[in-house]
Amino acid sequence: MTNSLSVAPGKVILFGEHAVVYGRPAIALPINEICVRVGVSPVINRPVDSVHLTSSQIGLNSYLDELSAHDPVKQIVQILKTELSISHIPACEIKIVSTIPLSSGFGSGAAVSVALIRALANFLGITLSDSRVSDIAHKMERIHHGNPSGIDNTVIAFEKPILFEKGKPFETILLSKAVHLVVAGTGTRSDTKVVVSEVRERWLQNGLKYEKLFDEIANLVRLGRSHLERGNHDEVGILMNKNHEFLQQMGVSSDKLDRLVMTARDAGALGAKLSGAGKGGNVIALVTPKSSSRVITAMKKECAQFAFQSIIQVSGRGDDVLC
Ligand code: PMV
Repeated sequence: MTNSLSVAPGKVILFGEHAVVYGRPAIALPINEICVRVGVSPVINRPVDSVHLTSSQIGLNSYLDELSAHDPVKQIVQILKTELSISHIPACEIKIVSTIPLSSGFGSGAAVSVALIRALANFLGITLSDSRVSDIAHKMERIHHGNPSGIDNTVIAFEKPILFEKGKPFETILLSKAVHLVVAGTGTRSDTKVVVSEVRERWLQNGLKYEKLFDEIANLVRLGRSHLERGNHDEVGILMNKNHEFLQQMGVSSDKLDRLVMTARDAGALGAKLSGAGKGGNVIALVTPKSSSRVITAMKKECAQFAFQSIIQVSGRGDDVLC
């Protein structure tokens, strides 16, 4: 057994959150400036299945068998063992280091799953395809988010811009121009499971309104994809603004999110919207290299807990350096 290291990025949803749960398409982008790193190293002189885990971000410092059955890290390891038909793990140290803010719409849970699945499988001498990693991570997402669309584990496992539709193979979006985003955090946690179930309640009560909203979003997603591929960022920005309006009508925005969206636009962003489940979490703004720092400063001055630039390169996966 040798050391194994795996890195997984964060993600944002450019278009189509929530509607994607109801079978509509959505677009997600990997965010390489934030990531989870998982290192697994062998330990000699300790019995098999003596697996020690540390993660300062989630306050983890224990042996696997000391963790409760509901612990998310323990659950990932259990799912992986079942999937790979493994009964024992050689003694090892697992270190999880993450720079992805928790419960903020950046897919931190899916990123931990993807990085841990890959690192542990490599440690065991097993190579998994991206698609297998994504499927296993989706099983974990199901435990935590109830009825997740699968968009988070897919974009994070494949590390490239995707058009995602439930139950279909995803499509890679071929950017013709690098996308410059400003990503800002409200500092308010967003509980995906809760927000998704609130939307479901309203959909059950007012199906017509929500189905119409989801259809409008689906149209916007398809248009957005073609503008992204043509490099028409002015149009992409306009569609982001439109998507934010639909999310407001869905009841998943908040005062802070709306303020940050307005601030970004006033500071020169081509468009801005909340990203992820909403009610908290993050706002993304499409910027140019020139307007980027102005937008960051304005958003921080307004109420953003943090704001940073993320560049999604044309080439996508391969030559991008993860955080
Ligand atoms: O994990 P979040 O907060 O980025 O939300 C994921 C996007 C939703 O569409 C709201 C849920 C889902 O399962 O797709």
